[in-house]
Amino acid sequence: MNSMTALVDSYTPGMTLPQGFYTDQTIFETEMQAIFCTQWLFAGHSCDVAQPGQYFTLPIGRESVIVIRDRDGTLRAHFNVCRHRGSKLAWHDRGWVKTLVCPYHGWVYQLDGTLQAARFMEDFTCDEYPLVSAAIREVAGLIFVCLSPQPPDFVMPAAAIAPQLLPHRLEQAKVIVRDRYRVQANWKTILENNRECYHCQVAHPEFMLANYDAGLPGDDRNGNTRFQQTRAAAYQRWQTLGLSPHEVSFPNGSWFRITRLPLRDGFLTESLHGRLTAPPMVDVPDLDVGSLRLVGMPNFWGHANVDYTMTTQVIPISAHETQIDVAFLVRQDAVEGIDYAVDDVAAVWRATSAQDWQICEHNYAGICSSAYRPGRLSASMEASVTEFINWYLRQMTDR
Ligand code: FES
Ligand SMILES: [Fe+2]
Repeated sequence: MNSMTALVDSYTPGMTLPQGFYTDQTIFETEMQAIFCTQWLFAGHSCDVAQPGQYFTLPIGRESVIVIRDRDGTLRAHFNVCRHRGSKLAWHDRGWVKTLVCPYHGWVYQLDGTLQAARFMEDFTCDEYPLVSAAIREVAGLIFVCLSPQPPDFVMPAAAIAPQLLPHRLEQAKVIVRDRYRVQANWKTILENNRECYHCQVAHPEFMLANYDAGLPGDDRNGNTRFQQTRAAAYQRWQTLGLSPHEVSFPNGSWFRITRLPLRDGFLTESLHGRLTAPPMVDVPDLDVGSLRLVGMPNFWGHANVDYTMTTQVIPISAHETQIDVAFLVRQDAVEGIDYAVDDVAAVWRATSAQDWQICEHNYAGICSSAYRPGRLSASMEASVTEFINWYLRQMTDR
């Protein structure tokens, strides 16, 4: 902890973090406790657990959580730990069950976590051994969990997210493909890369077809007025469509951002050709709704387009390795091969993700070098990176 304090003290505002923050496994363990076990984390999609008994698991450091729909429709989060001898209860990423049965000695839990039956247990009361539960919230088809017994406020984030995301009807969507990546980089390298578009012109030809490299908080570049005018005109149009466009970017230093940004002329969605890749999810007469950007620190970003939504979930494995799951959702009633092709829906983001992970791995390799020194961040193009670092250091020191 002393080395932590020394490291935090050694940080110079406006620069990248000192090396140890990215490479030290002790720091990583502290982050898992101070951030990943206290903040709201993006867990998954409501449509994946629409029916009672449907579940998925979420690994968080040495923790694992089962997200499951109860019989009465309530969504529950249970620590994935059997109350007998502590075995992992659910061994798979997802499934559909009537009860949760421990694969070790067969203890049976109801979906709400109460122990229903335990074989050969004498002088024993099931009531005393329910699963340990965690906080869980749903907003507009996205599920967030928090492992802390005192979770941070979710009322304000939900109130900001719901009106802007609900028109995309994610609850009536389906996940058509999930791409899993193992990236040899620290999770903060990946978040920092996500928080700037300084690299977009250099690294993302497919992304830049549809997108401007503008619109991030703190980006006050001169000569950016054309984008600002385009966005202001789009806001007026979206207002009349009932899309409630608002820029909500990490209010009062909090953990989330949601904002709708215009796409380039000729692009209705983030596709290679500008046309829709699946039937519209948004029920509006004008399909030019731009792209709704969502960010949730520490583990989530997503883009909701008119025809598909992409979500990215970041799962730290160690100081040096991160798992990333990218999911694509389209309307539930859309038929593959007729209404959409997975390769078309996912084209821009498969290219962009692969480019980002490659950038991050090379960035991380350099960060690990003896020649690494904290570097200067651009005040306009990397303001959001600075904001992320400040948020991160607050979490680490508040602890
Ligand atoms: S550890 Fe689960 S039933 Fe024994
Ligand atoms: Fe990128």
